[in-house]
Amino acid sequence: MVLEIYPGDITALAVDAIVNAANERLLGGGGVDGAIHRAAGPELLEECRTLGGCPTGQAKATKGYRLPAKHVIHTVGPVWRGGGEGEPALLAGCYRNSLALARDLALRSIAFPAISTGVYGYPLAAATEVAVTTVREELATNPGDLQRVLFCVFGEDAKAAYEAALGMEGR
Ligand code: AR6
Repeated sequence: MVLEIYPGDITALAVDAIVNAANERLLGGGGVDGAIHRAAGPELLEECRTLGGCPTGQAKATKGYRLPAKHVIHTVGPVWRGGGEGEPALLAGCYRNSLALARDLALRSIAFPAISTGVYGYPLAAATEVAVTTVREELATNPGDLQRVLFCVFGEDAKAAYEAALGMEGR
């Protein structure tokens, strides 16, 4: 099992699934959600319309359409409201439920964006800690067919946060 940091645009990745940081309606939006819908083409929105939305912390899978990735796993991160509204557990649920779908689909590679750390305002260091801890725990207990998990980071701050959380500083 390899945990990697990938700096750059998640829509360029030819992995079995990229994860989308969506909202509960699952009908597109800004940030990484907008980039994924633009790159996948209108068929993605058509399939999303059939899903009936997705509660915060849960995940739903679609095909990848025009993306190099075969699937998109749409998950909904929590909006940061100060940390006392269950945000860490909801964010952990995004990672856990996305990995459960990856197992069900027998995927070998998956890439995550830094869920909730953009528009939804989750502090980067805290979100990164949840992401890395949850993925490590989940893979230790039930990896399925997964061989590669990529953390896709947009910008130097996110890259540094993931390097710190993965214990890779200075490498
Ligand atoms: N590839 C990888 N990461 C990206 C990309 C990209 N192309 N674009 C942005 N990021 P955000 P959220 C990073 O705001 O906070 C949408 O409107 C970005 O730098 O996309 O979960 C949805 O529809 C940040 O680190 O997602 C929801 O309404 C991270 O992706 C809402 O935003 C997440 O930022 C979700 O907010």
